[in-house]
Amino acid sequence: MSLKRHERYISVDHFSDTSRAAALAVTLAAASVFLPTALAAQRPCDPVSAVPSASHDLYCIHLFPAAGSSATGTAELDWIPGPFTVNVAKDGTNRWAVRFSLHDLPPLPPGPAPGYVAWVMPQSLTPMRRLGTVHEGTTALGPFALQSFLVHVSAEPDTTAATRQGRLVLRGESAATRLRPADNYEFFLGGIGVPREQDEHAHHMGAAPDSLGWTGIPMYPGLDMLPSEMALRPPMAAWSLPERPNAPAARPREVVTLADGDTLDLTAGVVRRTLAGRSYTMFGFNGQYPGPMLRVPQGAQVIVRFHNALPLPSTVHWHGLRLDARFDGVPGLSQPAVEPGESFTYQLVFPDGGIFWYHPHVREDIQQDLGLYGNIFVQPSLPDAWGPVHREEFLILDDLLVGEDGLVPWGRDEPTHAAMGRFGNLLLVNGEPDWRLQVRQGEVVRLFLTNVSNTRTFNLSFGAGARLKVVGSDLGNFVRESWAESVVIGPAERYVVEVRFEEPGPVAMLNAVQGQDHMNGRFFPVVDTLGVVTVTAARAQPDLAQSFNALRTDRFVANETTALLRGNQGLPPERVLELRAKWVGLPFVTERLMRVDSLYHNPVEWAGTMPGMNWATIGPQAQWTLRDHATGRENHEIDWRFRKGDLVRIRLVNIRETLHAMQHPIHLHGQRFLILAVNGVAADDPAWKDTVLVPAGAAVDLLVEMSNPGPWMLHCHIAEHLQSGMMMTVNVEES
Ligand code: C2O
Ligand code: CU
Repeated sequence: MSLKRHERYISVDHFSDTSRAAALAVTLAAASVFLPTALAAQRPCDPVSAVPSASHDLYCIHLFPAAGSSATGTAELDWIPGPFTVNVAKDGTNRWAVRFSLHDLPPLPPGPAPGYVAWVMPQSLTPMRRLGTVHEGTTALGPFALQSFLVHVSAEPDTTAATRQGRLVLRGESAATRLRPADNYEFFLGGIGVPREQDEHAHHMGAAPDSLGWTGIPMYPGLDMLPSEMALRPPMAAWSLPERPNAPAARPREVVTLADGDTLDLTAGVVRRTLAGRSYTMFGFNGQYPGPMLRVPQGAQVIVRFHNALPLPSTVHWHGLRLDARFDGVPGLSQPAVEPGESFTYQLVFPDGGIFWYHPHVREDIQQDLGLYGNIFVQPSLPDAWGPVHREEFLILDDLLVGEDGLVPWGRDEPTHAAMGRFGNLLLVNGEPDWRLQVRQGEVVRLFLTNVSNTRTFNLSFGAGARLKVVGSDLGNFVRESWAESVVIGPAERYVVEVRFEEPGPVAMLNAVQGQDHMNGRFFPVVDTLGVVTVTAARAQPDLAQSFNALRTDRFVANETTALLRGNQGLPPERVLELRAKWVGLPFVTERLMRVDSLYHNPVEWAGTMPGMNWATIGPQAQWTLRDHATGRENHEIDWRFRKGDLVRIRLVNIRETLHAMQHPIHLHGQRFLILAVNGVAADDPAWKDTVLVPAGAAVDLLVEMSNPGPWMLHCHIAEHLQSGMMMTVNVEES
């Protein structure tokens, strides 16, 4: 049975673009009278339209009639508007709102309160959870959190009953239920392997691994891996930073307060770092790790003289600053790369308040990973931009891949880990594996979070006794603050949150997610402790409980964004970018594993649970692609031109049919944007952003304000995806 389902899916995967286009053209002709509405809706269960939209397969569950019923229906898994494009519970389980669309429901049984009831349950059938009553037509219910589940609709004599009594009318299963150990059929196929001469691709790419300098990488603890997967090696020379035992020991970062007109010297160089008892040669800015935190007032102008003391060419990109394009730090677009021993002078401006960061824009997969990153805190000019707190902390989230012999080497000419990106196994906060903070009971702390990891999306939360409020993101506040159980933060994103520590004792700061055990077709909880906050019994003064308990509205952001949001939501996108991949010359086992893996794509790939095949897949094999839907042009061929002042609706669609589709944190340099909708559901609490996490199979509608002239990069911020080509240029001309 599972084999059949599999075949059906594979045929989808092989859809040629022409047959797709033909199918769409037919639909379009039939629907052309209603085109504007058809274009505007595009939720997962809507009929297919000419403009790519949210994945039907992942987010729309077809309900099938139970015996004796002729009812039909769908259960749409909807985005829940809020500060994150992905909804998960504190433990990383997907959370959904669900919209039922039901037709031809059978007559109801007699009883005290007859009606139809919807239920959700794991595949084991227990516990069966009552979602609520449904009726002919559309009913919105939820939210609930389940990773893979069944949906039932029953005809009940008494709709108030907590358990199902009545007859089953409709049933369906979420896409994740396709992951079953039965599909190990495919894994065994991959496990058998093939003689090398029969493996065309291995033949092409093949070379004796050890001569390239690769040893091995740590496997994911507790998971089974195929021998043929573990034998894979990147088909390319390895690169490591030569050991320099005498390099200076890195110092913790310093805060550098800069006033308008000030100049800072910033040197990227080699340092020694000791992490979890082992010492490594790494990189740092001004001998610090993370790099110095720049503190500047909003509206200031500052000069940074960058010196490259690295053994590699580099630049500095000022992530999120709407500055002059000449100082954006992109080699080949805004400046030549700064060679070792050379310098470059940047002029920075800070039009927006909040938290920003800087990093090299050359081989980020190596340079950023080795420690070249720092925060910029721009003090907002509005005095009451945030509510009162006892203290502010700036936390940079990162991970590092450590093997038995030290840091796992990088690819010399191209990145390794070009499939899912380089997941580390040592999680770091401000460069430290065990971050600590001591606070008093009742203390309110504002945390400025920045994710600088190559690929890892964090689902950050605190243990019991701490409450968390989301205040702002990349370029300023949300219109309304909101409570959250956890913070989902993709690479390069920033979130501003406030936490009140309400009880004395230790409170862990956690990254809790659902890892995917590909061998056994299941998800399992992954919990990492990022650090510990010790809450002392002494009470924080003054008591900020009252102000903390209130959710503030930012009138300034509301004034800037409300009309923009209302005026653009529901209108069709003006540009559509498809996020795709092409795979070239993969080894047999990798290709087979990816096919099995494509039965289902979790919205976010949270953990590196396929370490071997991921590691051994290199840049040229993984051609991650931005495709302009209108022209079919891809990556650097795309030539988008706008005028300063334009407001442009851009849809990013993460194409589900892509082999090994996964989330992409898409970043646009030099501008700011609002999220209008996710999977056709309108956003209702905007904040200006520069990076957005686009979940697998999702469609995210943006409103981009083209406020800053120049040529600007738009790219995926997974370092390995960027390096394998997932980038384009957006040109904004002076109007
Ligand atoms: Cu942090 Cu091109 O960006
Ligand atoms: Cu990507």
